[in-house]
Amino acid sequence: MSNLKKVTVTDSNLTKIKSDFLAVGLFEDGSLTGIGSQVDKSLKGAVKKAFDLKDLKGKEEETQLFYNGADRYLVVGLGKKEKFDPVAMRKAGGTVAKFAVSRKFDKVAAESFGNENDALFTQALAEGLILGSYQFDGYKTGKEDKIFPLKTAVILDGNRTGARQGSINAASVCYARDIENHPGNVVTPSYLAKAAGDIAREGGMKLTVFDRDKIEKIGMGGLAGVASGSDEPPKFILLEYYGGKKGEKPVALVGKGLTFDSGGISIKPATNMDEMKYDMCGAGVVLGVMKAVAQLKPKKNIVAAIPSTENLSGGRAVKPGDILTAYNGKTIEVLNTDAEGRLILADGLSYVCKHHDPEFIFDFATLTGAVVIALGHVCSGIMGTDEKLIKEVKESSLRTGEKVWEFPLWQEYRDQVKSKIADVRNIGEPRQAGTIAAGAFLEAFVKKGTPWVHFDIAGTAYGMKENPYLPKHGATGETIRLVLDVLANR
Ligand code: BES
Ligand code: ZN
Ligand code: ZN
Repeated sequence: MSNLKKVTVTDSNLTKIKSDFLAVGLFEDGSLTGIGSQVDKSLKGAVKKAFDLKDLKGKEEETQLFYNGADRYLVVGLGKKEKFDPVAMRKAGGTVAKFAVSRKFDKVAAESFGNENDALFTQALAEGLILGSYQFDGYKTGKEDKIFPLKTAVILDGNRTGARQGSINAASVCYARDIENHPGNVVTPSYLAKAAGDIAREGGMKLTVFDRDKIEKIGMGGLAGVASGSDEPPKFILLEYYGGKKGEKPVALVGKGLTFDSGGISIKPATNMDEMKYDMCGAGVVLGVMKAVAQLKPKKNIVAAIPSTENLSGGRAVKPGDILTAYNGKTIEVLNTDAEGRLILADGLSYVCKHHDPEFIFDFATLTGAVVIALGHVCSGIMGTDEKLIKEVKESSLRTGEKVWEFPLWQEYRDQVKSKIADVRNIGEPRQAGTIAAGAFLEAFVKKGTPWVHFDIAGTAYGMKENPYLPKHGATGETIRLVLDVLANR
């Protein structure tokens, strides 16, 4: 609900900057970045003294305020000098933002920490400043619960292009975090459709929304099946952005928009079931990316599909044993109604393959509890059909600091989702390789030859450990920056 909207750059001198403090960087070897030594001179060597006394060590996330008359300087630890990269820069930005918010400073200035006019470093710093400023004030009504917003941030001698890219990237992540943090009685499939409509208007995109009747009529049996247990209207949401050449194959993004997952008839245990409001975070990723696309206007064609519904256990709900027919005509034996994400994604993947013949497909889903068992809340699980595309994803992962780990998609796992009486079944072998079984299931709905990568974000969409650019709790918006990086580097 609150985040710094954008970061600007300035080349003006120290005396002209209007901010509550100026942040300067300190490495673990005691060296100060950029104008740091100049600042320390004005402080009569106080920073150097603090370092010599070991009161300041230059470690990441360290902060110490210094005063020169009415001027404040924030010394920020940057870690090891030889390891300082955009990932560390992003953390430094987050550290500055979190410090400002915690001390109720709303205007910050930071120098470029030794990387003046460098697009990638400025981008990372801008991202850190915005991501670190993010706060969701939720639904508390007390005066003392009011959040304190960070209003402006300026980077000395930063790179303008980098600041713009970083601002748009990070503000889009915050936009997605907001949507993801709202509860299931607010963020319904209709809410997601409205958000997509806002993005379409902003970015000159085409919006198509199918309702329950249409979903059933055109044969999206997976989405219709899952939606049959809930009175909340399901939606199939499609955003089309054409910034590339006419006829050029689009990139396709598909996101799981399960606005609440009770498990359906195969109902989940009560403990932590509330967390299943986050089961739409795949849709959040897709909306976050498209929000950035609306502003960046890349010379590319991009389509985004969001199948969206609740998974409840109403009188018409799909039952274990039921057989559904997906949009591509394949039949699915539903052996567990809680493995519903793959059912709605089956239609999303089939739809973009049939109508858009994508250059490649990414899908995002809080798909399996098994991925949290395997990888914890540290990285997203990925798998796919195209080595080159997977390599690009891994490279973007390193640049953005959004970790991924690849699982194998071997024939043995495809065999595990074969059904005795239908084409596929929606679960694999009990208690075995659940994340890969889900991926193998999805693969059956991707047209042969179309490069595709599946992101299982059940462990990363929320619940990650706090760091300078991640919030203490709630949605993270992870993988949005990774996708934007893949798009920017293609
Ligand atoms: N939405 C869940 C996956 C999930 C679990 C996300 C925990 C975040 C945290 C998904 O729909 C689901 O319930 N999957 C089942 C599949 C199983 C029935 C094969 C699971 O992981 O238990
Ligand atoms: Zn489920
Ligand atoms: Zn689910």
